[in-house]
Amino acid sequence: MASTKLPNTGFSIFSEMTRKANEYQAINLSQGFPEFDCSDRLKERVAYYMGKGFNQYAPLEGVLPLRESISHTIIGLHNRTYDPVSEITITAGATQAIFTAITAFVREDDEVIVIEPAFDTYEPTIRLNGGRPVFVQLTPGTYSINWDEMQRSVNSHTKMIIINTPHNPSGMTFSEEDMLRLQKIVNGSKILILSDEVYEHIVFDRGQHQSVARYPELAKRSLLISSFGKTYNTTGWKVGYCCAPPELTYEFRKIHQLIVYAANTPIQHAYSDMLADKDSWQNLKHFYEQKRNTFVNLIKGSRFKVIPSSGTYFQLLNYSEISDKPDIDFTDYLVKEIGIAAIPLSVFYHEKTDHKVLRFCFAKNDDTLAEAARKLCKL
Ligand SMILES: Cc1ncc(COP(=O)(O)O)c(C=O)c1O
Repeated sequence: MASTKLPNTGFSIFSEMTRKANEYQAINLSQGFPEFDCSDRLKERVAYYMGKGFNQYAPLEGVLPLRESISHTIIGLHNRTYDPVSEITITAGATQAIFTAITAFVREDDEVIVIEPAFDTYEPTIRLNGGRPVFVQLTPGTYSINWDEMQRSVNSHTKMIIINTPHNPSGMTFSEEDMLRLQKIVNGSKILILSDEVYEHIVFDRGQHQSVARYPELAKRSLLISSFGKTYNTTGWKVGYCCAPPELTYEFRKIHQLIVYAANTPIQHAYSDMLADKDSWQNLKHFYEQKRNTFVNLIKGSRFKVIPSSGTYFQLLNYSEISDKPDIDFTDYLVKEIGIAAIPLSVFYHEKTDHKVLRFCFAKNDDTLAEAARKLCKL
């Protein structure tokens, strides 16, 4: 019998909930993917590059035009220059970039600080590399971060801090003050930062996305990771990127080449053309802000308590006035009896902490949101 290297890890709840949603023909607000298709222009660009014969291996670091487009975009947004040649690598999605970054730097007994609730790949990837996750909890209800707790969690074993803004699953976004606190904590240390920014273009209420790229003291020690899946409604294409100073990028690429060698070629060229047109990403925040407002307004008549979301396409709802079932059981009831698939928040905690909160994805058509809200308001 093969022994497991990950005894506490099963298979992703996201695909499990999508399977259940299909089985019970429920409205699927669980897994984080948009109900809308990608643009015709993007499809046309991919077809164009395939037709032109861009179908063989890309350079392992990614095609240069895309790295240049990313560099230009970041200069415009955050006023920091990442050198396309030595500081930007194209990956097979953010998941691979996260795995690569942790594997490149985390060794046996290194500590890595993970903010909980947390995206599900961080912890097992740290453990696979012999590292020790150290958890810092967001405050339930507001999902703000307690920087004093973060400060107390840092010690001489701390190799890396993983941050994620806008934050999945809570919809919280870091403020400038948060970034300055983080900067103060790591200043003068050798701690690396893995900054997961896959929802970088989805920040609401005129907020500013707080990228590590905006803070020189953070950027010089950070691996900034993002993905095109969320920006272009193409979560199935799995192309992302990592921006980091040359010495970090050099080590990152050593691992990257072993995992995938390179991401797929025609899609990289197509994304490069898309990024160059600001309209393809700069209205995303308004689009999803509208969706959030629609969903929240529809839910107002229900007994769910809305937890404010300032970014991503997720909305947390507290159901403690409706039921005292554990969140896993309540989710099960929702999908089987009410016809709504959601994600119980406890799955984002290593101790499966249950605050009677569920995560709903509102990247759906208005009709879908209205039908979902109608069902939820009956509870
Ligand atoms: C916070 C966060 N990081 C990373 C990813 C993975 O991105 P990708 O699909 O590009 O691998 C996701 C996807 O849901 C996410 O929510």
